[in-house]
Amino acid sequence: MKVALIGSGGREHALAKEIVKSKNLDKLFIIPGNPGTAQLGLNVDLDIGEHEKIVDFCLANEIEFIVIGPEQPLVDGLTDKCLEKGIKVFGPSKQAARLEGSKKYSKEFMLRHKIPTADFSSFTIGEKSAVLNYLNKTTYPVVIKTSGLAAGKGVAICPNLESASSTIKDYFEHNKFGKSGHEIVIEQFLEGEEASIFVVSSGNDYVILPSSQDHKRAFDNDYGPNTGGMGAYSPAPVVTDEILNSIEQKIIKPTIDGLIKDHTPYIGCIYIGVMIKGADAKVVEYNCRFGDPEAQVVLPNLEGDFLELIYSAACGKINKDAVRFENYSSLCVVAASGGYPEEYKKGFEIHGLDNISKDCYVYHAGTKIKNEKLVTDGGRVLAITSSDKSGDVSACREKVYAQLAKIKYDGIHYRNDIGFRALGKK
Ligand code: AMP
Ligand code: GLY
Repeated sequence: MKVALIGSGGREHALAKEIVKSKNLDKLFIIPGNPGTAQLGLNVDLDIGEHEKIVDFCLANEIEFIVIGPEQPLVDGLTDKCLEKGIKVFGPSKQAARLEGSKKYSKEFMLRHKIPTADFSSFTIGEKSAVLNYLNKTTYPVVIKTSGLAAGKGVAICPNLESASSTIKDYFEHNKFGKSGHEIVIEQFLEGEEASIFVVSSGNDYVILPSSQDHKRAFDNDYGPNTGGMGAYSPAPVVTDEILNSIEQKIIKPTIDGLIKDHTPYIGCIYIGVMIKGADAKVVEYNCRFGDPEAQVVLPNLEGDFLELIYSAACGKINKDAVRFENYSSLCVVAASGGYPEEYKKGFEIHGLDNISKDCYVYHAGTKIKNEKLVTDGGRVLAITSSDKSGDVSACREKVYAQLAKIKYDGIHYRNDIGFRALGKK
């Protein structure tokens, strides 16, 4: 079959790498892709915001199946446009993607279906006095989130009234996140250790993929601003079999059932961010797609036919035997641009990739070819990944950092402590 993959980041490079292993693949198109995906299929220079053009391209090229990587086209309804024309899609409808597209909707969904999450209230830009009233009475810390999409940056942890009031000003008066911040959710701060769980759903059935853990802060020891993710590993030892079982019963099953009851059955990957404390797990957030950089560590741990897994899910009858999880572990470190997630420069030549040993794989995220040279082209530039059969991430970590030392470009920045919570744990 001919398949189109939408997106251009490290996650899409990781998806492409698994898809091309399938014996059922005839040709892979990546819209728009990056220099990494160009080694695996044909990059097509179309804007992912131009849904009509994407659908026309797929029809003209007899593409049967579309895999949508990033959240924005999902939240904007690209799935619905493709389905109308008879093209199968892995990725939720616009209605189902509200689990990520509107934090207010997702919190109300959890409340309605009794799914454990932090207590919350929500406010709109017209309710300034109500929100100040609330902030005067609540207990701190609180977490203030834009309800709409904000590329992982619309979350502020506020230790006191002063910082909460100034965050509200940023969102409502200084328009920091535009319309996305005109509706907000304020929730109770959850303590514990975070993990990411990917559930591949066919609407009424699902497969849970190996757990992972992201590192969201920019600097070592979890300091600095939140980013899209600076590195990850899989599986996450904090997700023991017992906890995973409890997450399945208390979170995953009620989520799938709730989506059916609400008449928004979900086909695609549900990313569930959980906070784990002792035996207790609560939902921090839902995302309507695979995580980035978590996909770069979860997908290499699968054996079997990943394309078959997601295609069978898109057809509504998931093949649960399509993939197996062996005793692999994987770890990746993101090489970012100096200054990310704030301002950063692009266009620096990347050196050293010819020299990377075979026990690591370099996923491209923000790169492009300029005058026949590979240059930086985004905040997160590369994700250097290694997998190991021992089931202990320490071996992967050593391999990744040894290869990372060979990669050079102006302003390169990466964390030196990825995986620190998992070291020595099975
Ligand atoms: P979100 O976009 O909702 O995942 O939030 C981004 C990050 O902010 C999460 O990965 C957490 O590290 C942190 N965060 C969000 N909500 C909470 C919460 N209620 N308690 C503690 N930390 C949170
Ligand atoms: N790594 C976090 C995310 O993909 O949302």
